[in-house]
Amino acid sequence: MGRFFVGITGASGHAYAEALVRGLVTGGHGVDLCLTRAGALVIRHELGVEAGERGELLADSLEGWLGAEIAAEVKVFLPEEVGAPPSSGTAMGEGAILAPCSMGTLGRVAAGFSSNLVERVADVSLKEKRRLVLVPRETPLSQIHLENMARLASMGATILPAMPGFYHGPKSIDDLVGHVVGKVLDCVGVDHRVSTRWSGLDEPPEEPGTEPLGEG
Ligand SMILES: Cc1cc2nc3c(=O)[nH]c(=O)nc-3n(C[C@H](O)[C@H](O)[C@H](O)COP(=O)(O)O)c2cc1C
Repeated sequence: MGRFFVGITGASGHAYAEALVRGLVTGGHGVDLCLTRAGALVIRHELGVEAGERGELLADSLEGWLGAEIAAEVKVFLPEEVGAPPSSGTAMGEGAILAPCSMGTLGRVAAGFSSNLVERVADVSLKEKRRLVLVPRETPLSQIHLENMARLASMGATILPAMPGFYHGPKSIDDLVGHVVGKVLDCVGVDHRVSTRWSGLDEPPEEPGTEPLGEG
């Protein structure tokens, strides 16, 4: 099927990025992946994935991180590769997802900075009016953060905060992560089983996480 661009930034919540990449590939899609420099620090800290100082080791770490089957469908780009195929408006991907998205990247996208590949792809998505989903993670939010989000939403981007619900009876971190990632996958039209569907207050919550988010 198609390819999605996934930008991983230096915000906390790299478990969301992992589940997202697994969900996209399991849904039959390829992934163009780019980690910002700050993202390279956070992915080591949160997931123990060695990406080097500027993501240069990520391609080598991919199989150990995601497993061979998922890794085979993922192409890694460095943040300075601003001339890579996904950076052009002529590249017809299925959409761009920034997850987790730092307030820094969000602000630079809102301002049209394009200082690395993640920001450039988001900028191109906005100008071409293509699907762009940002999964911000920060709390509390300053007025600057809120205004940047409102600005991006008014330009057609989807702001989908890493803000899991609890009404589906989560029993694990995977369940919470799956709730957010399921929303992202719904948003970009990718079929999935990473989260359960709401069946009403009268129904007991379905057993969540019946489908593992994947294993390396
Ligand atoms: C462990 C760690 C966790 C962080 N968590 C967040 C976060 O949740 N949200 C955020 O906006 N910034 C967070 N930051 C700060 C960003 O990494 C920092 O602003 C960075 O410059 C963002 O760069 P980028 O947008 O190019 O990835 C965190 C930094 C570290 C080291």
